[in-house]
Amino acid sequence: MFDKLETLDDLLEMQLKDLYSAENQLVKALPKMASKAKDGRLRQGFETHLRETEKQVERLEQIGQTLGIDLDGHTCKAMEGLIAEGQETMSERATDEVMDAALIAAAQRIEHYEISGYGTAAHYAERLGQQQVATLLQQTLSEEQHTDTKLNELAKNYINAKAV
Ligand SMILES: [Fe+2]
Ligand SMILES: [Fe+2]
Repeated sequence: MFDKLETLDDLLEMQLKDLYSAENQLVKALPKMASKAKDGRLRQGFETHLRETEKQVERLEQIGQTLGIDLDGHTCKAMEGLIAEGQETMSERATDEVMDAALIAAAQRIEHYEISGYGTAAHYAERLGQQQVATLLQQTLSEEQHTDTKLNELAKNYINAKAV
């Protein structure tokens, strides 16, 4: 993708392309996860996060425009792997409760990956004096964190208890 990473700008560009690919993959994957979820709150959670994810894609496009970067053309292999593992789980035979617990486990792995990516990218943008970009990235970061917290609460208070 890059001949050489020379500056923090290059690194930010790489991170943004990776996130852009990851989010686009998630726009496709989240409806499948939602349709597999048996618990209404979990299904709703996935649907809400799908709408957020579509906004996150737009936010990245806005950032690309601000920085004059084309974010297309890269594939986030880590997200491909996380989604593939999630799909493997979804094809297993499982009781409703256990499937919901497994969906949460897969979704939290995904959120943690995104949290890491956005945290790093936001920090780079700040260091580069791109405050507007940093603010947009932080906005998405807090959505990912909020989603992770909601999944955690659902798992701990309800679904994992039912799955025992
Ligand atoms: Fe996201
Ligand atoms: Fe997310």
